[in-house]
Amino acid sequence: MQNPIPDYLREVLDALRDDTSGERAGYIPELAEAHPDYFALAVTTAMGSTYTAGDAGIEFTIQSISKPFAYAAAIMDRGLDQVLERIGVEPSGEAFNELSLEAGTNRPKNPMINAGAIAAHGLLVGADATGEQRVDRALELFSALAGRQLRIDESVFASELGTADHNLSMAHMLRKHGIIADDPHEVVAGYTRQCSILVTVADLSAMAATLANGGVQPCTHERIMDEATARQVMSVMAVAGMYDGAGDWLTRVGIPAKSGVAGGLVGVLPDQVGIGAFSPRLDSHGNSQRSRRAFERLSTDMGMHLL
Ligand code: DON
Repeated sequence: MQNPIPDYLREVLDALRDDTSGERAGYIPELAEAHPDYFALAVTTAMGSTYTAGDAGIEFTIQSISKPFAYAAAIMDRGLDQVLERIGVEPSGEAFNELSLEAGTNRPKNPMINAGAIAAHGLLVGADATGEQRVDRALELFSALAGRQLRIDESVFASELGTADHNLSMAHMLRKHGIIADDPHEVVAGYTRQCSILVTVADLSAMAATLANGGVQPCTHERIMDEATARQVMSVMAVAGMYDGAGDWLTRVGIPAKSGVAGGLVGVLPDQVGIGAFSPRLDSHGNSQRSRRAFERLSTDMGMHLL
């Protein structure tokens, strides 16, 4: 018998294809030019089978979906205690590009917002690392998680860095508070390169399936992080992955998730599956409109809500 999963995924895409609401990310010039109609879904099981539908061959920049995985790298490189000293684990209740520092500690509230992710990038490798070593670390880890060698989209990188004043201003505040130690320009350039890594939906589902599988990449069988780190990352995704829409998302969809402004969305169901979706138009929270609806559909149809 033919496997019914790809047909089901295609059905979900077809049911939502007419939804052309939302806008592409306007603040990164290259993304504003992206083809708006792409729509793709992928599922990777914790046993290592991958199923895709739609425009699954299209690469797009990972953007904020890099944040949970770079956070994992920071924990591996520095230990959880050092990371917690600089980045909290509370929902910010604010948009992804707000500074959202915690009163008293001046830590960014969590690693999913830009301020927390810039801080996490600054922790990669070790205290003496160069900017290039931090970017290499992110690229290597993401490639191991995806199970193939990934690369950076240089034109999206240049386009975003050219308009990165907001992130730069936050990085200066972070250095003032001792949250990052290095030159804010270098850290933001590295973080922006990390956001410019190209992925497909199947890369995203494989990366998420590695978390679902307790840190072991289910296709290559490589242990990439320990179980406690995978659990920490999934927990923060549940708390803050969808920014100021995180509570609505967790109650409605019930899948720890992370979105990116290029239109990607990744979700993880512990012990079961990683899910990747891609559609460039975004809702008012900066989350992909059709990807969000595809997740809602999957959650309802397949009883995927965690609770
Ligand atoms: O730093 C930025 O603004 C982008 N590189 C990433 C933001 C993002 O993906 C927000 N998520 N939906």
